[in-house]
Amino acid sequence: MVTHTRDDVVLDIRDLRTYYTTDDAVVKAVDGVDLTVRRGGTLCVVGESGCGKSAMARSVLRLVDPPGEVVGGRILLYPAEGPGEPLDLAALRPTGREIRAVRGRDVAMVFQEPMSSLSLVHTVGDQIGESLRVHHGVSRREARKRSVELLERVRVPGAERVVDSYPFQISGGMRQRVMIAMALACGPRVLVADEPTTALDVTTQAQILDLFADLRHDTGMGLLFITHDMGVVAEIADEVAVMYLGTVVEQGPVDDVFHDPRHPYTRALLEAVPRMGASRSRRLPTIRGTIPDPGNQPTGCVFRTRCPEAVEGLCDTTVPPVTAPGPGRRVRCLLVGEPVPAGAAGGTGSGANTGAPAAGARPQENTPNGEEAPDAD
Ligand SMILES: Nc1ncnc2c1ncn2[C@@H]1O[C@H](COP(=O)(O)OP(=O)(O)O)[C@@H](O)[C@H]1O
Ligand code: SF4
Ligand SMILES: [Mg+2]
Repeated sequence: MVTHTRDDVVLDIRDLRTYYTTDDAVVKAVDGVDLTVRRGGTLCVVGESGCGKSAMARSVLRLVDPPGEVVGGRILLYPAEGPGEPLDLAALRPTGREIRAVRGRDVAMVFQEPMSSLSLVHTVGDQIGESLRVHHGVSRREARKRSVELLERVRVPGAERVVDSYPFQISGGMRQRVMIAMALACGPRVLVADEPTTALDVTTQAQILDLFADLRHDTGMGLLFITHDMGVVAEIADEVAVMYLGTVVEQGPVDDVFHDPRHPYTRALLEAVPRMGASRSRRLPTIRGTIPDPGNQPTGCVFRTRCPEAVEGLCDTTVPPVTAPGPGRRVRCLLVGEPVPAGAAGGTGSGANTGAPAAGARPQENTPNGEEAPDAD
């Protein structure tokens, strides 16, 4: 088993809460999430549409659009090397100078749809070179030269020609490579990729996943990779966090979670993955029911309205505590393991993604209106 130390950690997300507050409801898109990204490691966050993956990813760079807001928690970005005080990105003003200095330079992001992030009126080279000019003050000539090198690094054929093209003149797969080149321009410590292959055909998706794996290996950056596809997780992750309705319900080393999933939702997601050689006529199992309205979450366990194992009188009244059913593993299900002792859930020294707020270490009774009962302490 790999033993991790604090020095491995490049991004540590603790008890993150990102809410959308409207006249009608408060949507708790991210509701107490703990995640750890390691240097040179890939953490995949997986879950169905609407479970809060993008809100979490955008929170890291403080790019959540109003009425969304990071309302609690910490997003700790550690120094490039060795020990040192982290910078709490959650404490920065979303429009301030400090977070703008971090974006692109220390933490970069790749989005699902490159066309929505690329400018149609600037060349590929101008766009890749922009962050080099902003963060490192390099000349236009040097920025163009570095842009060509970056395009070659992300395996764009004919980089000398593509650098002077406009985004609409190149294919979707090439545009995604351009986005990745832009993200890599300043050598970020962390790359956040929000479903970067979802809009691509299967062959191009496989090539881009290979590219991410190589880049992560070559650069030592930490990769926070968002997907709704367990097949993608199997391809690229070291560690996986399964999200449901704003909460991480299971996390741990990817091999362990795939071979022995402990949360009913993780099992359902894995059962929905097509298997190699399976008969085409065999219908894929889907997860029963639909995700509840996020503005009106169920009492007790967030998954209980769809869970085949839900126990009446228990799962509808009690919020599952975080349990640790194996090294580096965390699960939120009332039927799994012993609660993590208070104070032992946080930190990153003992294994993969050892994350949970101490308050999560014991069950919490729900009040009849669905709010959590106040702490007894
Ligand atoms: N602008 C918004 N206003 C209100 N709710 C929003 C807004 N954007 C996202 N949400 C809600 O936040 C939740 C999480 O959304 P999102 O992070 O986009 O999920 P995912 O990326 O997992 O599909 C969803 O319930 C979504 O409806
Ligand atoms: S706590 Fe209950 S409802 Fe929730 S996942 Fe476990 S068995 Fe299912
Ligand atoms: Mg999304």
